[in-house]
Amino acid sequence: MTRFVVRPSPRLSGTIKVSGATKNLGCKVMAASLLAPGVTTVRNISKVDDLAIMIELLGSVGAAIAVVGEDSIEIDTSGAIIPEAPFELVSRMRASFNILGPLLGRCGEARVALPGGDSIGSRKLDMHVDGLRAMGACVEIDQGFVVARSEGGLRGARHLLEFPSVGATENLLGAAVLAKGVTVIDNAAREPEITELCALFNRMGAHIVGGGSSTITIEGVESLHPVDTTLIGDRIEVGTYLSALGIAGGEIELVGTRIDHVEMVVHKFGKMGMLISPTADGIWARASRRLTAQDISTLPFPGFATDFMPLAVALLAVSEGTAIVTENVYDDRFAFVTELARMGAQVRNEGRHAVVSGVERLRGATVVAADVRAGAALVIAGLAADDETVVADAHHIDRGYSDLPGKLRALGADIERLG
Ligand code: EPU
Repeated sequence: MTRFVVRPSPRLSGTIKVSGATKNLGCKVMAASLLAPGVTTVRNISKVDDLAIMIELLGSVGAAIAVVGEDSIEIDTSGAIIPEAPFELVSRMRASFNILGPLLGRCGEARVALPGGDSIGSRKLDMHVDGLRAMGACVEIDQGFVVARSEGGLRGARHLLEFPSVGATENLLGAAVLAKGVTVIDNAAREPEITELCALFNRMGAHIVGGGSSTITIEGVESLHPVDTTLIGDRIEVGTYLSALGIAGGEIELVGTRIDHVEMVVHKFGKMGMLISPTADGIWARASRRLTAQDISTLPFPGFATDFMPLAVALLAVSEGTAIVTENVYDDRFAFVTELARMGAQVRNEGRHAVVSGVERLRGATVVAADVRAGAALVIAGLAADDETVVADAHHIDRGYSDLPGKLRALGADIERLG
């Protein structure tokens, strides 16, 4: 069992390179490569655990993946593709459901296991299904699988998403790039990963206008060709190190990211008393005093991302004053606060809200990581705890972070990995 042991740490200082956005972008780029027969190269990829699952999944549908050097992979999709994604892989990682649109686009049919809910909420798939049906696909749920067919090919359609779902926008993009005619996705997700995916598809030969805005227009093309692409820095990792800085204090520089990808975090943490500025290739930040509490409400991009919420709660737990945190994206993302309370945090949760009253110091305790961001939040909370904090089930953290302990250590934190 992987555990991270965190001890009271000095103020953070130093520079680290932000890893490529592998969990929330790299895996989607890999799925997209199925639409461009040939060899797609993905650079700046980090060895998070979700990458290993996606490599297995693409292998199982017939792609050949080679890891090249420290941070690149080559995906060869020139062979025959089997349009079936098995339960044992899809159930381990929700991003694997992103294979549905590309499989349908390439093969005209797809059978993808339902990923199920997870520890942050029910996470439905109705918008993926409705969108594909609007494009003429016949989609059924059969014995735990989504079975989709598009006899005669997919047709472009206008589709209004009920909520700007990241995954539904991505799956519909994957289905629409090779569909006949024009698809319009209204109320599309605007996350930087979507902008990147649209740009990638365009470089592959697609015709997409409006990526990064609420209306994306896709004119179907006959075929796509593979490209060589480099992932942007992982913005959730950026938010994690900025939250850690707010907790431990100090001055850090993050290289390989863009401040506009974390604008709302910068705005909020700025109001709380952190100084944050752009640099030529990243972000510089300083926290010279205890931060002041601010209410936080999560929203799709450009709002305060739900993935930053557990990290922000950890920060508020040691900030001055009381704040209300409202979670608007998931229906059950506050389970981790009971673990934080074991460390002495004054936090109460009721439905989609939590009230956090900052204390000066937390207490070390053994706590359990239930998911990737909750786990990271407990780790950074440990920086401001007296005594030792042991974060159990830390394998959840490895799903999305490339060596979180090593990077925090590079900033001066006292943290080690066991098991
Ligand atoms: N939803 C529906 N129906 C659908 C699709 C989504 O009701 O058909 C709901 C979900 O239940 C959820 C909300 O819409 O309550 C948002 O879901 P969305 O589809 O936007 O999220 P996702 O694509 O499943 C990605 C990230 C998440 C991140 C969300 C929101 C990946 C692999 N995952 O998930 O990342 O929280 O977007 O930004 O890209 C994380 O990194 O810790 C993480 C959970």
